[in-house]
Amino acid sequence: MKLVKLVATAAVVLMPFAAIADEMPVGDAEAGEKVFKKCRACHVADEDVKKIGPSLMGVIGRQAGTWGEFNYSSAMREAGEGGLVWTPETLYEYLVKPREYIKGTRMAFPGLRRDQQRADVIAYLAQFSDPWPPEEDGEAAEGAAAEEEGAAMEEDGTAEGGEAASSD
Ligand code: HEC
Repeated sequence: MKLVKLVATAAVVLMPFAAIADEMPVGDAEAGEKVFKKCRACHVADEDVKKIGPSLMGVIGRQAGTWGEFNYSSAMREAGEGGLVWTPETLYEYLVKPREYIKGTRMAFPGLRRDQQRADVIAYLAQFSDPWPPEEDGEAAEGAAAEEEGAAMEEDGTAEGGEAASSD
């Protein structure tokens, strides 16, 4: 449920790379771990380790082509310099046919045509990335934080009241 909301938000905020995406199914991280077997020959997701491809730990929210000292193709680096950031939405688009999304990428992987598989593998990757969209982004998040604080204070008040009543 939560993911649907996140995705909807991301779609609105998203940059030119995300051609109005088809609606992304809700991903299942456990199923995604299985899908990730297709990526494992070249990528690690739960550690900062380079294989044939860059580590995918923290990939969500990362500018394309910027992990560590990985020797990216110029196509990937230029995509990042041009504003491509990996989000659930851009990954969803990229992973259909990576070499169409980024012409000249060195990622030799034909793609995941099934929408559900892409959503699942993204849910898997999200476990090793910060929440997206980032929480400190914008007033809405600030407002929510303030509200939470208020709620916490109210709870405190109630607790004290209870104590006072019981000591009577
Ligand atoms: C045959 C090896 C190989 C496989 C399989 C592979 N990748 Fe990659 N991947 C790469 C390489 C190499 C790059 C760097 C591409 C470049 O520089 O153009 C890359 C780049 C990426 C990037 C961009 C990372 C960044 O830091 O900008 C993402 C995201 C990604 N791969 C996800 C996946 C996922 C998810 C799968 C499985 C569904 C997968 N890859 C399968 C080799 C592979």
